[in-house]
Amino acid sequence: FGRQIVYQEEVNSTQIIASELVMNDAPEGTIVVAERQLKGRGRLQRNWVTSDGKAIAMSLILRPSISPRVAPQLTLLTAVAIASAIEKVTGIHPNIKWPNDLLINKKKVCGILTEMQGDADCIKSVVIGIGINVNQVESDYPLELSDIATSLRIEKGQPFLRAKLIQVILAEFEKYYEIFLEKGFKPIKILWESYAISLGKQIKATTLTEEVIGQAIGITDEGQLLIEDPAGIVHTIYSADISFNK
Ligand code: BTN
Repeated sequence: FGRQIVYQEEVNSTQIIASELVMNDAPEGTIVVAERQLKGRGRLQRNWVTSDGKAIAMSLILRPSISPRVAPQLTLLTAVAIASAIEKVTGIHPNIKWPNDLLINKKKVCGILTEMQGDADCIKSVVIGIGINVNQVESDYPLELSDIATSLRIEKGQPFLRAKLIQVILAEFEKYYEIFLEKGFKPIKILWESYAISLGKQIKATTLTEEVIGQAIGITDEGQLLIEDPAGIVHTIYSADISFNK
């Protein structure tokens, strides 16, 4: 991974560049890194702001032979790889909020966006977008973000080399990806749980069609979130926005 790196100073979104490369047969493991994004994409059609020269904005191209059903597991796997890399480089133990936000002290430090192409039986490609707040200081955040976002520098009180972090993330990713392709999601699930912050908590999951409030009791072997509502009914959540019910 990362043997082929496409580096660009300014892009609309590394996700767009990566999907163009996919159409031009870029091999698995190709990564796109940008210094600045004009139209960074977040999950659920949100925008993603990339601070100039202070954040990591990258997209990773995968070509796994898997069914689209298990593709969300790749997002959880990526969260584990990044959490482990952050821990190795900074000494901070980050938390993962299902499915894939990385938090430190309950504030977001990294977001992951997985986009795939293919048909109902088999995936052709997956582009995993990774945005990490690395060297921002408090004054880089507008007031409305300062309560919910943080950076590695703010948390640790020192700047970090983004290139080093990318290198460790790719090594961690490669390690877990190989385990996943060989043994499936189970071994990754155990690691994911060791970073999970949502489990055991009262949460609210907002999906496209409903709102589920209850206790997060675990994730399935396939990576979906299980929530038990006050009536004791267990809901399986495939995709949602999660907030903590205080
Ligand atoms: C989220 O938490 O909503 C996901 C954010 C993903 C942001 C990254 S930055 C690199 C890549 N390019 C994009 O446009 N988005 C992802």
